[in-house]
Amino acid sequence: MLLPIVLPLLLPATALSSSTPPPQPYSTWLATSFLSKSPPIDRYYVSAVLHQGLHAAGTQHNNTALLTHVSTALSSLVSTNGIVIGWKPTYYSLDDLRIGNNLLTAYQETPTKTPDANQKYKTAADNLRRQLDSYPRTPLGGFWHRDPQYKNQMWLDGIYMASVFYARWTALFDAANGTAWGDVALQFDLVEAHCRNGTTGLLVHGYDESKKAVWADRRTGAAPNVWIRAVGWYAMALVDVLEVFPRELPAYAKLVSYFKELAEALVRAQDGESGGWWLVMNEPYPGKKGNYIESSGTAMFAYAMLKGVRRGLLEDGERYRAVAERAYGLLVDRFLKREANGTVSWEGTVRVGSLDGDGSFEYYTSVPLSENDGKGAGPFMFASVEMEMWKGSKR
Ligand SMILES: *[C@@H]1O[C@H](CO)[C@@H](O)[C@H](O)[C@H]1NC(C)=O
Ligand SMILES: *[C@@H]1O[C@H](CO)[C@@H](O)[C@H](O)[C@H]1NC(C)=O
Ligand SMILES: *[C@@H]1O[C@H](CO)[C@@H](O)[C@H](O)[C@H]1NC(C)=O
Ligand SMILES: *[C@@H]1O[C@H](CO)[C@@H](O)[C@H](O)[C@H]1NC(C)=O
Repeated sequence: MLLPIVLPLLLPATALSSSTPPPQPYSTWLATSFLSKSPPIDRYYVSAVLHQGLHAAGTQHNNTALLTHVSTALSSLVSTNGIVIGWKPTYYSLDDLRIGNNLLTAYQETPTKTPDANQKYKTAADNLRRQLDSYPRTPLGGFWHRDPQYKNQMWLDGIYMASVFYARWTALFDAANGTAWGDVALQFDLVEAHCRNGTTGLLVHGYDESKKAVWADRRTGAAPNVWIRAVGWYAMALVDVLEVFPRELPAYAKLVSYFKELAEALVRAQDGESGGWWLVMNEPYPGKKGNYIESSGTAMFAYAMLKGVRRGLLEDGERYRAVAERAYGLLVDRFLKREANGTVSWEGTVRVGSLDGDGSFEYYTSVPLSENDGKGAGPFMFASVEMEMWKGSKR
């Protein structure tokens, strides 16, 4: 009986796994590890997602050091008259709107006792929102991923970058505007119609409405492959937008059905052996040489499922929770690296995946991994906070 207690003490520190209690919650452990490296903030999406993760961990555990770091960092990005420094209203790239979420959170959290601070975030968020009024669109009304490089293309990534902000801004400042809500839903409808595979329930990386890109299907415009992080961004976009989308609008039920179908597809696509998901998720690639279990996408799916269960979007929550918990266990065991100095590092996140090239399996699997990448570490903090909320609620 003593063996399970004694054994870990005999192992080197690097072999400690999820069965060993961590010195602090995983969310704050990774967040404070980042803090010790003082990651510089910038206005691009990776930084936006990482800082949202630091903020989520800080909020869940009332960690003042984390929250102060995040608010100071964000404040340094926004001039006193409400300009995100370096942002250009005439440069149209959905990636550059992700920071809008951080601005809205800062706005909501700096109440009227500091009206100037409060106002600068509102002005900055309004400027980003206004850009969408003149943003270039596909003939069917989808925002281009970027102008002019990705003209007429919608990528799943872009839905997370822009639509969550669009929905949150609308909920805060324009909640009665049915046109705006319809426009938010339209972005999802378009990728659903063009990217979802009806058999597997998974979505390919994007589509080109003009069907001109080298990777575009000549008939539908769809990209050929299912790239894990694109689906991960999309799953997070659905669950985050559903948090603010008005329930009484018909599009709400439609968005819920998109989310449920995706969650079911993810259950089917989960790797039976590891509990994670493959970088390239569509057949015949899972298990194929060169393919691997990728950490950022796996963290995004764990987060989306756990939050979907918490918010009652997924019936039979226990089943989804079991899938997400298994994935989360893998993240902790395989991708959260214990350093000798007591900090943790984040591993196993693919650096990029773009539809700039041919969108082939060979392309996606040729991209290197990066360490301590905010695109994976941020979502791991989101998933950890969901796990920690759930454990807290059981006490
Ligand atoms: C801890 O070790 C990691 C890995 O060597 C390093 O990147 C990090 O800066 C160290 N942190 C502190 C606080 O020394
Ligand atoms: C959060 O931490 C601060 C500073 O440590 C403390 O004053 C405050 O009471 C805490 N709030 C909660 C809800 O625990
Ligand atoms: C409602 O939203 C639409 C779409 O975003 C926008 O074009 C329009 O100006 C908004 N209407 C008002 C009254 O703000
Ligand atoms: C959907 O997925 C199935 C199973 O992998 C595949 O056979 C089929 O070709 C895919 N459909 C499209 C339109 O790509």
